[in-house]
Amino acid sequence: MDYPIFITNAKTYPQITGDGIIALAMSHAKVTRDLGVTVGLAVSPFAIASVSSIVPEIITFAQHTDACEAGRNTGAQLPESAKWAGAEVTLINHSEHRVENVKAHIDRAKAAGLQVVVCAESPAEVEVFATYGPDAIAYEPADLIGGEGKSVSEAKPEIIAQSVEAASGVPLLVGAGIKTEADIKVALELGASGFLVASGVVKADDPEALLYELVGAIRQFAMQE
Ligand code: G3P
Repeated sequence: MDYPIFITNAKTYPQITGDGIIALAMSHAKVTRDLGVTVGLAVSPFAIASVSSIVPEIITFAQHTDACEAGRNTGAQLPESAKWAGAEVTLINHSEHRVENVKAHIDRAKAAGLQVVVCAESPAEVEVFATYGPDAIAYEPADLIGGEGKSVSEAKPEIIAQSVEAASGVPLLVGAGIKTEADIKVALELGASGFLVASGVVKADDPEALLYELVGAIRQFAMQE
């Protein structure tokens, strides 16, 4: 993954059930082509193959993979299958899909050839997870996810700074309530290497327009560097 990166986590919102995910992926492809910023889309396991083959310009993410080995597992999301379907990266330990043994999940995903973004809810978790060898860490305070309220950039700027420090050089992404250019600029100024966004984009009246705004803020910041 190149940084800074903008990742939309489509979750299971109704807007992206069925063909909606392809339309959203196409918007992400336009934005990354026009602005030259790396863009990813975390999709349902059932959409990985379609999105990665129809929209190769973006990075297709799995929203989770399991730590099991191939064999007698029913319903498990095998990392090798996610890779085979076209996922390049997987989220691990998202607040909405926390796992017991984070290191085992990271190790199995990497053994299957996937890159890993591990999700953390505090600087303390960031510090521990940074020792597990993820490709990036996403700091997301669970209480601010999906809310109509303040974003992580507005509510917890000091925690973003602490998490960047705690990541000890592992790229630190931020998420939770990100929906404005100001949210993007504040986090980048604090040292963030990217973003994980869901409702702000997926539920927007015009997701593509908002993508241009948010990713455009990343481009503008990168050009000033
Ligand atoms: O994975 C990103 C997600 O948890 C953030 O959600 O809706 O606050 O952008 P949201």
